[in-house]
Amino acid sequence: MAITIFAPMSESLQINTISKKESYETLLPQIHSLIAGEGNLIANLANICSAIQMTFDHLWTGFYLVEKNQLVLGPFQGPIACTRIPMGKGVCGTAWNNQQTVIVKNVNEFEGHIACSSDSVSEIVVPLFDLKNQIIGVLDIDSIHEGMFDKIDQQYLEELCGMITKNLDC
Ligand code: SME
Repeated sequence: MAITIFAPMSESLQINTISKKESYETLLPQIHSLIAGEGNLIANLANICSAIQMTFDHLWTGFYLVEKNQLVLGPFQGPIACTRIPMGKGVCGTAWNNQQTVIVKNVNEFEGHIACSSDSVSEIVVPLFDLKNQIIGVLDIDSIHEGMFDKIDQQYLEELCGMITKNLDC
């Protein structure tokens, strides 16, 4: 999409912006190439966080990994975050418990939300499964904007997590 701004007494200024869908369409093949052939999960998750942050500039992008009855902080980009989340607690623990993506339009309206940063307003948490379909963690993204995440994010981030799973056997 191109936005043209006409300023009085000056030339027009053209700013090229791309939609969220186009951003994901550009990002996912690059992540696919980035992790292809690399079997180290932590290294891949670290690069994926960076790639998402460089594309969208959200407040926080990171992974929590299942360790016994808790989620433990994994690779992330953004402000420091809480290290452990019990099963069923917060948005992450809820996504883990239900094994489903959770989209929160406004975290202040989500009972039990764990506020790692007071700047976080909306959030999406996507489960990450292994090759046996066991949940091994979640991808958590936080935004300073209300209602930042929708079905488009869910579709592409679930595809991304599926890509990570497929890569686990390399
Ligand atoms: N808000 C999350 C906790 C993790 S931080 O956002 C990084 C939750 O409620 O589970």
